[in-house]
Amino acid sequence: MTLLADDQSVAQRIFDHIDNRTTDRSDASWREPVKHYRCEQRFAAELELVLRRYPTPFCPSAALREAGSYVARDAAGTPILAVRGVDGRVRAFRNACRHRGAQLADGSGCQKAFVCRYHGWTYGLDGRLRHVPHEDGFPGLDKTARGLAPVETTEMRGLVFITQDEPYLIEPCLAELPELIAPSQQLFTTTEQETPANWKIVVEGFLEGYHIRSTHRETFYPIQFDNLNVVETFGRNSRVAFPYQRINKLRAIPPAERRVDGMLTYVYHLFPNVMVATFPNNIAMVVLEPLAIDRTRILTYTLTDRSDHDGDGMEAVNRSRDFLLAGAAEDRAVAIAVQRGLQSGANQFFEFGQFEGAISHFHRALDAALGGTP
Ligand code: FES
Ligand SMILES: [Fe+2]
Repeated sequence: MTLLADDQSVAQRIFDHIDNRTTDRSDASWREPVKHYRCEQRFAAELELVLRRYPTPFCPSAALREAGSYVARDAAGTPILAVRGVDGRVRAFRNACRHRGAQLADGSGCQKAFVCRYHGWTYGLDGRLRHVPHEDGFPGLDKTARGLAPVETTEMRGLVFITQDEPYLIEPCLAELPELIAPSQQLFTTTEQETPANWKIVVEGFLEGYHIRSTHRETFYPIQFDNLNVVETFGRNSRVAFPYQRINKLRAIPPAERRVDGMLTYVYHLFPNVMVATFPNNIAMVVLEPLAIDRTRILTYTLTDRSDHDGDGMEAVNRSRDFLLAGAAEDRAVAIAVQRGLQSGANQFFEFGQFEGAISHFHRALDAALGGTP
């Protein structure tokens, strides 16, 4: 049983909004103090109490296809290495050698073992310390106690989740998520970009359709709707549907047979810093890695179920990705503008209206998780 509405109900809600010129509204608006984007203490608490304690998506399962496939990157400021073992299980570790801490891998690839480039200590895919050159120089070394330091790892719905620090705080709603990334989806590009804006400003840009006409006039607006969304929440997470105008074609199909694939974009916000967004030819998983109070790395994994043998299909995939990148550049530009605006001192708070309910939900959940941090 899923906590989210089925395709037929979502399509019907969209038709009602089109007919009545309405959109989903939250009960109230939300005022978020500007100091919450500027306070170093709050930023540190967000990393420590939220990003490292809850299961957060690390990468798509498709990035770890076979035994030895790995992804190494920072997550909430911690270098992490996730790797698929010969037993098929994904494990994640703190990416630091147990001799003197050097990282064992960087980026992504496929290896049979991890050999530290500093002095050659060698670890298996399961993290066990297998070999120490000139081991006799370490009298009494217990290799079984010096494997890579593991972090809690779960693979679920096409994603790899990690939880870094104890006490681990579980997210029961995730168990009721639908399959987000099907096994047929293959990773085809990974991009990284640094943006001079607080990570929460970048999150906010994904969670409402009130800006479609103003921000995306030449890109999304011609094919979508301005300010017409279905907003659902589940636990601390949310799903926002952005319909395309061609969804009207579904009206001719009996309700029970209506499928919304290719007729709308779903943006799943997986609390706190990850989005999974569905598009006609691909799926994007976007990870917002907070680097500093005013700097965020945007990591985008793009997946498709079209094969690269399928020439026309891949052309459509590439066209659709380029189109998305154009829209994403517009979102990035406004995020940078908002960051500059909050430094201007003009506002004591930002007000999220009833059309921006998924953002209010995010801030409410973050406040609750921070438990009164100023
Ligand atoms: S730091 Fe890795 S082998 Fe020395
Ligand atoms: Fe946008």
